[in-house]
Amino acid sequence: MHQDKHKHINYLLFIIALLLLWACTPKFSYSVRSFLFDGVPNPYEVEVTVIKDSLYTIDSTLVNGISMTSFVRNEFNLHTPYGKRECAKCHDRNDMDKPRLPLPDLCNQCHEDYNKTYKILHGPVASGDCTQCHSPHQSKLKNLLLRSGQELCLNCHTTPLVLANKDHDNIENTNCTSCHNPHGGNNDMFLLMK
Ligand code: HEC
Ligand code: HEC
Ligand code: HEC
Ligand code: HEC
Ligand code: HEC
Repeated sequence: MHQDKHKHINYLLFIIALLLLWACTPKFSYSVRSFLFDGVPNPYEVEVTVIKDSLYTIDSTLVNGISMTSFVRNEFNLHTPYGKRECAKCHDRNDMDKPRLPLPDLCNQCHEDYNKTYKILHGPVASGDCTQCHSPHQSKLKNLLLRSGQELCLNCHTTPLVLANKDHDNIENTNCTSCHNPHGGNNDMFLLMK
């Protein structure tokens, strides 16, 4: 008699456990939820949401009602110290809006000082206007550049003046940097082949 009672309780617990398992599957909760509320999305349809912040993309994919969230780097190329969130290398924590050193000193903490590398510096390099061509944080382009191709240079040098130079006949879409070093050189025009 005593033994039988135990058996019954065990059976009951087993059935309750099965019911709970079934109730927790997405299909069950989906049919319950769509019965109760209209417009509940079907978890069997794959749904992708991409939420962006400045550093990472949260790629949340709903597969069979289970949310698979992974952190993937977004399409920007991050400047290494920015990606590592070493903000303090370039900013004062109490005044994030501006760099903590004047440029190019700020950059020269980690990069070669072009003043020492080249006899003649390109105008914006000499004046420390690195951020006229580079983003200090991130860019979709290689080398953290702000503009691509000739655009980078024609932002300051005017097309008619560049085209007026016979050395520029037939350059068409050739990158200016295939002939000129963007930072400086040992001759006036920082030509690469000289
Ligand atoms: C390699 C140096 C460097 C690092 C590392 C860096 N910054 Fe900057 N940051 C700059 C410079 C330079 C400027 C000024 C931009 C300009 O002149 O256009 C700037 C500007 C800013 C500004 C002003 C608004 C803007 O976007 O122009 C904010 C805010 C800022 N940085 C936040 C951050 C945060 C947060 C981090 C860390 C995740 C960080 N920075 C890392 C160099 C850096
Ligand atoms: C705290 C150190 C640090 C400072 C300060 C710093 N950089 Fe960098 N920078 C790096 C590192 C590390 C790399 C990656 C180097 C490598 O991969 O060889 C890098 C790479 C770069 C690259 C190449 C990026 C690429 O995609 O290949 C550029 C351009 C650059 N930095 C510009 C700047 C400019 C402009 C400044 C000043 C506003 C600056 N950096 C200040 C550490 C720094
Ligand atoms: C006129 C635009 C321009 C200016 C201004 C400029 N750069 Fe660059 N920089 C480039 C280009 C373009 C590249 C890509 C390399 C190439 O095409 O030769 C580059 C590449 C780099 C690189 C990575 C590759 C390398 O050559 O080591 C670093 C680091 C860098 N620049 C730092 C700086 C710093 C620091 C300053 C300011 C002192 C600066 N740049 C100013 C255009 C510029
Ligand atoms: C932020 C503005 C700016 C950008 C962007 C810029 N330059 Fe310059 N460039 C200057 C200034 C300023 C001078 C110096 C003034 C002068 O000598 O005419 C100069 C001078 C030059 C000179 C020497 C001219 C001479 O007569 O001595 C060459 C060559 C040159 N730039 C090529 C380029 C190339 C190539 C690019 C693109 C990679 C570029 N520049 C992008 C501002 C810029
Ligand atoms: C095929 C190689 C080549 C290409 C590509 C090229 N240049 Fe030049 N550039 C030269 C030569 C060569 C000179 C003359 C050098 C001399 O007189 O010693 C020159 C001179 C210059 C000068 C100084 C003289 C002047 O005309 O004011 C500037 C500025 C200049 N180039 C900018 C640019 C820009 C901007 C681009 C891209 C739109 C570009 N160059 C593309 C070869 C080239």
